[in-house]
Formats: sequence, C-alpha cells, structure tokens
Amino acid sequence: MAKLIFENTGEEKELPEDSPLHQFCEEAGVPFACTEGVCGTCVIEVVEGMDNLSDFTQEEKDFLGDQDRERLACQCKLKGGCVRIKY
Ligand code: FES
Repeated sequence: MAKLIFENTGEEKELPEDSPLHQFCEEAGVPFACTEGVCGTCVIEVVEGMDNLSDFTQEEKDFLGDQDRERLACQCKLKGGCVRIKY
C-alpha cells in the first residue's frame, strides 16, 4: 500500500501501489478540467515524496517545464511509499 497526504487538510488516504492520483485528488477537492494534461487546472505541489510518483509524462514536461515541485494530478500515479501534496 501507499499513502497520499493532503497538506492543506491533513487528510490521509491509503491506496494500492500504482494508483492514479486523479480520483483521490478530486474527492479531496483538487479541481480538474481536461484530465489529459493540457489545461493545467490540476496542478499540485509535491511537498514530500516526489520519488514515489511515476515519471513525468510528456504532457507534464510540456506544461510544467523544468521544475521539480509541481505535478499534474491527472497524469501521475503513486508508485508506493508516502507522498505529501498541497493544492
Ligand atoms: S485536468 Fe487538465 S491538466 Fe490535469
């Protein structure tokens, strides 16, 4: 199992490994629009555990550029361990 923690609310979710973040982030209140990595509505800040997320998709590279704190919640998966995010 892996754990997703929402810094804003302190809410924690236990998820199976390789779970997409989309559904859990949407339930927690992160806004989504295109869900295809194009619009940037779902940008989240990764406070801790970036290494526990799947690799950047091409869409994320195109939208976010060269940085290491933000991800698009519609694009990434939780590989395992613990990830703390802020939105
Ligand atoms: S919802 Fe549009 S980039 Fe994620």
